[in-house]
Amino acid sequence: MIRINENYLNLKASYLFSEIAKRVAAFQEKNPKTNVIKLGIGDVTRPLPRACIEAMHEAVDEMAVRSTFKGYGPEQGYAFLRDAIAENDYRSRGADISAEEIFISDGAKCDTANIQEIFASDIRVAIPDPVYPVYLDTNVMAGRAGSLLDGRYGNILYLESTRENGFVPELPSEKADLIYLCFPNNPTGAAITKDRLAQWVEYARENRALILYDAAYEAFIRDEALPRTIYEIPGAREVAIEFRSFSKTAGFTGTRCAFTVVPKDCAAFDASGARHLLHGLWNRRQTTKFNGVSYPVQKAARAVYTEEGKKEVASLIDYYLKNAGHIRSEMAGFGFECAGGDNSPYIWVHTRTDSWEFFDLLLEKAGVVCTPGAGFGRCGQGYVRISAFNDFENVREAMERIGQAL
Ligand code: MLT
Repeated sequence: MIRINENYLNLKASYLFSEIAKRVAAFQEKNPKTNVIKLGIGDVTRPLPRACIEAMHEAVDEMAVRSTFKGYGPEQGYAFLRDAIAENDYRSRGADISAEEIFISDGAKCDTANIQEIFASDIRVAIPDPVYPVYLDTNVMAGRAGSLLDGRYGNILYLESTRENGFVPELPSEKADLIYLCFPNNPTGAAITKDRLAQWVEYARENRALILYDAAYEAFIRDEALPRTIYEIPGAREVAIEFRSFSKTAGFTGTRCAFTVVPKDCAAFDASGARHLLHGLWNRRQTTKFNGVSYPVQKAARAVYTEEGKKEVASLIDYYLKNAGHIRSEMAGFGFECAGGDNSPYIWVHTRTDSWEFFDLLLEKAGVVCTPGAGFGRCGQGYVRISAFNDFENVREAMERIGQAL
């Protein structure tokens, strides 16, 4: 008899953003005339940078000619893109990362979801609360989470991020083996300082643990004192894997390109305590299960690092940060305490009411979609997340409508 992976029965009913999409679709069906403004899922609205479009067109033309046509590319990504990333995102910031340590992929969501496959099923996993749901759900699917009781899984070590700790969790008093961190944070928008990040690196080194560092929003950091990559912290090469994405920086949510950095010094252990390099394991996983990102898309991503591309990306980020600033100041003006929005595209709004009720209120009274904080974990109750990814006119109108609705 064919049997299912019963860990799937242990998941909460549906993926957060699918649940929101379902509720919005139901509302829209009942209210076809309402122009719903979406500030829920962080999906970009501005077109791709000109430099990326031109590079993609040229690559498509190359695919039309026998002499320049490309079949399968390297599973790890083309050297032209890996070299540009190593130089611009890492070495230029004094972070010692080489091109061979970079694995190009079609999304940070897939990479942060898939990476747990290379670790044992009985390790202790520490996950922030609130959190991007992918980290937790994929560990539930893999059977690491234990049973669900009162909204929390028994085997997960929750790293609470609250207004009291500035939404940067404290080091756990218990021992964790695998630690997920995301800065600038999704959903709270909080950023981490070098000193705090260095404490996590030290914790990982002392406990023979590994940090999975999601830096998908690093391009939104405006405060020069904040770390843009975990590899700015000495010693991180041995204990951290970093995830990055072109989705939110260069508008690639629909185009799909991201990368994961697995330094060659980064290791984990087998049951006997022997040390194994993770670079080789991840390479083995990717070459078995992944055939690379398409050539035109990698060419487009490469263009992000040209002079023109850099300028265009900077202006896209400025655009969304202006939205973020407007949302934050308007919501604060309505009397809500807010976090994020300065080095991040997300504003974490303390509504002090049930988050799903506040979500329904904004949808029904203002036609505006946000994300209920409770969907990111218990510590998100009483909050909603508002995303700055939309056109400024829509953001301004959304804030006017929210002001009227309240
Ligand atoms: C979010 O809204 O949290 C993100 O857009 C989701 C994602 O990147 O998968």
